Amino acid sequence: MIIIKSRDEIQKMARASRIVVKALQAIRGILSPGITTGEIEKIAEEIIYSEGGTPTFKGYRGYPASLCVSVNEEVVHGIPSLERRLNQGDIVSIDIGVTCQGYIGDAAVTLPVGKVSEEASRLMRVTEEALYAGIEMARPGNRLSDISHAIQAHAEAAGYSVVRAFVGHGVGKTLHEEPQVPNFGPPGKGPRLKAGMTLAIEPMVNEGSYHVVILDDGWTARTRDGRLSAHFEHTVHITDNGPEILTKWS
Ligand code: MF3
Ligand code: CO
Repeated sequence: MIIIKSRDEIQKMARASRIVVKALQAIRGILSPGITTGEIEKIAEEIIYSEGGTPTFKGYRGYPASLCVSVNEEVVHGIPSLERRLNQGDIVSIDIGVTCQGYIGDAAVTLPVGKVSEEASRLMRVTEEALYAGIEMARPGNRLSDISHAIQAHAEAAGYSVVRAFVGHGVGKTLHEEPQVPNFGPPGKGPRLKAGMTLAIEPMVNEGSYHVVILDDGWTARTRDGRLSAHFEHTVHITDNGPEILTKWS
């Protein structure tokens, strides 16, 4: 069952989502060669707590940190560490979930560290575009897989692949609600979308093949072929007037 949120619930998700955006913007402001992923985690935690939120990921299914920070060939669920220093030319995906008054906002963005290669820039741009192509389909009357298909079509048209092993999800009082939102598949399948549904849409796009492997830490997923991966995510509220992005950046 896909939960339809009330206006009050949407407002709470919007509040949590604004904290997510604040943390992401602060990280963007300080991201530079030499910083560690553990320091990024500390900065985000300070903002989350001072804004009255709690980090949703911490302890979720045993996840040991507040953020996922995934560098270069890492796809998702990179565990922040004070030992992991970022270098000029890296691309780094920052994924943040915040709970506030019992409701969750979830978003991710991939950012350049200093000056990055043309190839890395293009991968980030296309992945964000794929997210927006999916969001564009998040309208009442469309079917769930219309989102999935739009994402896949955009990424593959650019010569990339979409990760199969991880998918987007409904979000609300819990981080992962029904439905799963794959980033691939034929159009016109699955449940019909309705106003009041809230989805975390999150394409992970690889330069090479879509296969991933999990590192020995039990969490970090990286591309099997070692090539780059990018990840963008928004929490989206479906309204009668179309998609409303709750985690929108200014
Ligand atoms: N945005 C990711 C997701 O929705 C991050 C989850 S990390 C976890 O799956 F630790 F909370 F699992
Ligand atoms: Co998510």
